Amino acid sequence: MELNARIYVAGHRGLAGSALLRRLAGEGYRNLLTRTHAELELTDQAAVRKFFEQEKPAYVFVAAAKVGGILANNSYPAEFVQSNLSVQTHVMHEAWRNGVGRLLFLGSSCIYPRDCPQPIKEEYLLTGPLEFTNRAYAVAKIAGVEMCRSYNVQYGTRYLAAMPTNLYGPNDTYDLEGAHVLPALIRKMHEAKTGGLDRVVIWGTGSPRREFLYSDDMADACVMMMSLPDDAFGKILEGPGGLPLINVGCGEDQSIADLARAVASVVGFRGALEFDTSKPDGTPRKLLDVGRLRKLGWSPRIDLKTGIAAAYTDFLAREGGFSELRGALSGAKA
Ligand SMILES: NC(=O)c1ccc[n+]([C@@H]2O[C@H](COP(=O)([O-])OP(=O)(O)OC[C@H]3O[C@@H](n4cnc5c(N)ncnc54)[C@H](OP(=O)(O)O)[C@@H]3O)[C@@H](O)[C@H]2O)c1
Repeated sequence: MELNARIYVAGHRGLAGSALLRRLAGEGYRNLLTRTHAELELTDQAAVRKFFEQEKPAYVFVAAAKVGGILANNSYPAEFVQSNLSVQTHVMHEAWRNGVGRLLFLGSSCIYPRDCPQPIKEEYLLTGPLEFTNRAYAVAKIAGVEMCRSYNVQYGTRYLAAMPTNLYGPNDTYDLEGAHVLPALIRKMHEAKTGGLDRVVIWGTGSPRREFLYSDDMADACVMMMSLPDDAFGKILEGPGGLPLINVGCGEDQSIADLARAVASVVGFRGALEFDTSKPDGTPRKLLDVGRLRKLGWSPRIDLKTGIAAAYTDFLAREGGFSELRGALSGAKA
């Protein structure tokens, strides 16, 4: 990617998109195209067509998606499948129509079968049943991977599907309805600490194992891949089974119970951790095999404890902002 190339980051205000934008800006890319959700509704095909025809990006990162934790996925499966299918279809189709050089589509590790061998290799895609609680989301993302493959085969596009593990970092979602496990733990521990509570209840048994990657590390890996010379980029597109698919993770996991203890230690919550075993655990283990990414010479830089501390700082800054806003609004009403 040339430094003056027109690069569109879809979903630039989200956790993944904002990390991509920071990374690209930090590397000196100066023609970054962004639209907020309010400015461009990506489920609106005509609006997406108009945007691509007007702006003609050369590169596209697809980080816009309807995303959520177990509760949101379980409660709103129709919205998850409809919204994600339509966002990715419109962006990828218009990218092809408008001659985009390279596109990176962000999926998620939940595309892999629930009980596949660990660590999860790219070739395990479509080899078994999916985890039920987020099946609608996963099927939409699998369709996105297949779109990348199909457009590359039929139209000669250069679309890459990157599957990050669980991400966390600045601009994460902290409301308990929509949050993933790590930001949800940050909020719960913080509220327990400031509210003087002596215990925090955590969904499930605490035994499932999960991998976490700081969003800036994910962005570093994705920008590195999109900047590779043509030959090297082409090799990533020829993944296992002809899929242009690559896992993005740190290669290490821990139990939810250990994660909760790490968050408690960073937040400074000293009460008890209670596990509500009546709630679902989700997939027992999810660790990505990152051999393909490692072969490109990439490894993460931010360890879990440092990352949680940075995420907690971001949470506090945003909470502070929200409280000030709440204060101002209540003052205005009075
Ligand atoms: N978070 C993770 O742990 C994780 C892990 C692996 C992969 N990923 C992947 O990374 C991608 C982004 O996830 P994220 O965690 O960054 O999500 P996020 O924080 O919720 O950000 C998504 C962004 O997309 C925008 N968006 C959603 N629907 C849109 C629409 N119809 N039109 C225009 N903009 C829309 C959202 O805007 P609004 O907020 O205004 O709706 C938001 O800015 C997803 O594909 C996800 O699968 C995430």
